[in-house]
Parts: sequence; C-alpha cells; structure tokens
Amino acid sequence: MSQKAFIFDLDGVIVDTAKYHFLAWKELAESLGFDFTEEQNELLKGVSRVRSLEILLEIGNVELSQEEKDKYLHEKNEQYLRYIAKMDTREILPGIPELLLFLKSEKIPFALGSASKNARLILENLKLLDDFDAIVDGNDVSTAKPDPEVFLIAAKKLGKKPEDCIVIEDAAAGVQAANSALMTSVAIGDPEVLKGADYNLKSTNELTLDLARRLIG
Ligand code: BG6
Ligand code: MG
Repeated sequence: MSQKAFIFDLDGVIVDTAKYHFLAWKELAESLGFDFTEEQNELLKGVSRVRSLEILLEIGNVELSQEEKDKYLHEKNEQYLRYIAKMDTREILPGIPELLLFLKSEKIPFALGSASKNARLILENLKLLDDFDAIVDGNDVSTAKPDPEVFLIAAKKLGKKPEDCIVIEDAAAGVQAANSALMTSVAIGDPEVLKGADYNLKSTNELTLDLARRLIG
C-alpha cells in the first residue's frame, strides 16, 4: 500500500477563524440593512471571498455595482484582518497540534488546501507556517471549492496520488471538492450539512491519533 498524505483545510479545521469570517460578513449584511444567520453562513464556508459576497447579496436581495462590490470586499477583509491580528496559538483547534506532531513523527506528509488568501498570514500568527510540506491557498487557484483544483495541486506538490490523500474539511464545498478529487474526505461539523463525507466528526476533538492510524492504514 502506498504511503498516505493529509491535506488540511484552514478556516474551521486548523483554527477557529470561521467565527471571524461570519462576524465580518454579518456586520456587512447589517450595514446593508439585512440580517445574516449562522445557518446561512454555512453556504459561505469554504467558498472564495468574491463568491461569498455574491451569496450574501443574493440572501439580502441587494444589487451593487462592481465598484461597490470591490469596496465592500476590501472593507470585509480589513475587518477580518483586525479580528485575526489579535489571534494567537490558543486559537488552534483542539486535537490539531497533537495530530500534526504525530504525522511529523510518522513522516506522513501534510499540506494546507485553503480557499483563503490570508492563509499564510494566519499560519504565521499560529507559528505553523514552516510545519506544512506544501501550502496551497486562495492565491494559487483559478477555480474555488467545490472544484477540486486546490486539493489536486496540493497532492501534486506532495508527490501523492489523489487516492492516497486524506482531506480534513469543515465546509460542504470542501467535502464536495475532496470527493470530486477522489480523495478520502473527513468532515468536521454537522453531518446533516456535511453529507457525503467518508467520515463525519462532530469536532476536531475527534481527530484522535487512533483515527489517524486507521486512516493511514
Ligand atoms: C475559506 C473560508 O477558508 O476562505 C471562507 O471558509 C472564506 O469563509 C474563504 O470566504 C476566503 O478567505 P479570505 O481569507 O481569502 O477572505
Ligand atoms: Mg473551512
């Protein structure tokens, strides 16, 4: 059996930034005169910044010029950056440090496969930037999740076949991307939202070393 590799999503898997994306989008929605709920936010998880704004505007039934959209995209990101500037290693999600250490000790390579253009900055804040064998983020792809491009590039950078890659994701779009790439998908979150994953876990607490050993085979 060939050696496996892991590909981690960032927001909501490595670190609890999903709440900051939500807060920044919610503030924007409210400034445009409509409410935005956590349930609606599931549609934005894993999705690119530009596509997220489009979905938000569809929810609020708001039409904007390209110029206005660019302005709000910029403002949303500035607000998000203010939130993550205060973030430190305490916001790494439970189970993740142990899992990364275990993979290193077993010499199992692992990559980041994120839609975020802020991924490198966040990993730097978390002191994790040098731990990944490859990083693929929103700056490296032409098509966003649910397209499998981000994970296929990550597999290539790791020198692995897609079927040997295990993807950890918290977004429906990400699970879909992993499945389309023919990788093993491990979903973190509500199984009703994350249908179709090979494994469903309630939280990163369930990413135990026992599970990692089973996934590695
Ligand atoms: C994904 C998040 O990881 O990155 C999305 O789940 C976010 O919510 C996307 O929109 C893009 O992130 P950023 O940091 O480039 O705005
Ligand atoms: Mg995510």
